Amino acid sequence: MPRLSARLQALLDMLEPGCELADIACDHAHLSIEAVGRGLAPRAVACDLNEAPLRAARAELRAAGLEGRIELRRGDAFAPLHESPTAAKVAVIAGIGGRLMARMIEAPAPVGPPARVERLLLQPNRDGEFVRRALVARGWHLREECLVPCGGRRYLVLDALRGDDSTHRDWGPMDWRWGPRLIARRDPELLAALLDERARLDAAIDAAERGGASVQKLAALHAERESVVALHREMSSAP
Ligand SMILES: C[S@@+](CC[C@H](N)C(=O)[O-])C[C@H]1O[C@@H](n2cnc3c(N)ncnc32)[C@H](O)[C@@H]1O
Repeated sequence: MPRLSARLQALLDMLEPGCELADIACDHAHLSIEAVGRGLAPRAVACDLNEAPLRAARAELRAAGLEGRIELRRGDAFAPLHESPTAAKVAVIAGIGGRLMARMIEAPAPVGPPARVERLLLQPNRDGEFVRRALVARGWHLREECLVPCGGRRYLVLDALRGDDSTHRDWGPMDWRWGPRLIARRDPELLAALLDERARLDAAIDAAERGGASVQKLAALHAERESVVALHREMSSAP
C-alpha cells in the first residue's frame, strides 16, 4: 500500500467512516486505495481525464487486491459520475490548481457535481480564492478550512457542504484571498504563511526598485504588503 503524503493524509482524516467516495482527478488513485484499503470507505469511484494515470492506478489496485471495490472511470471532472450514477456522497478533488477546480465545481450538470454529492473535500495547489468563489456561487457552504504543512509548503484544504453560506456576505477581500475560517480562528499556519508572504513581497519590492519598475507597479506591491502586514497584526492582536 502506498504511503500517503501529509496532504493526502489530511484528506483521509476528514472522511467519515463508511462513506462511499468519489476521487476526482485521482491520478494513481492513492487516496482511494488508502481509504478503501484501510476500511474507511467500503467502495470508491476514482476518475481521471487521462488514460495514462488510470493505467497506473489499475496496476496499483491490482497489487492491493482492491479491483472489486474501487472502480476506475475516465472523463472530465464529475462527468463519469453522471454517465452512470454512483452511491458516492463525498467527492474529493486534490492536487490540481484552484482555477481548474473552480471550473469543475461551477460546470453545469453533465460535468459539475451531481445532486447526490453532498460534501466536497478540496485541496487546490494554489488560487484558493477561485475555489471559495465557485463554492459560494454554486450554493455550497464552506464548513471548514485548514492549511496542511507538507514538503516545505502549506496546502489549503476546504471542506464544503451543500447549503447556502450567508456568512460570505461579510467576507472582505482578505477573507476571500486568505480564508475566512482561518482568519476567524487565528490559525497559526496562516500567521506563518502571512510572514512568508511579507518576505516574498519585500523581495519583490526590492527587485522592482532595482529594476526601475513603474511608480504604479511599486505602489501596488507596497499596498499588497501593507494589507498582509495589517491582517497579520489584526490576527495577532488580543481579542
Ligand atoms: C497532480 S495529479 C493529482 C492527483 C491526486 N488527486 C493527488 O492529489 O495526488 C492531477 C490529475 O488531474 C487529472 N486531470 C486534469 N484535468 C482533469 C479534468 N478536467 N478532469 C479529471 N481529471 C483531470 C490529471 O490527469 C492528473 O492525473
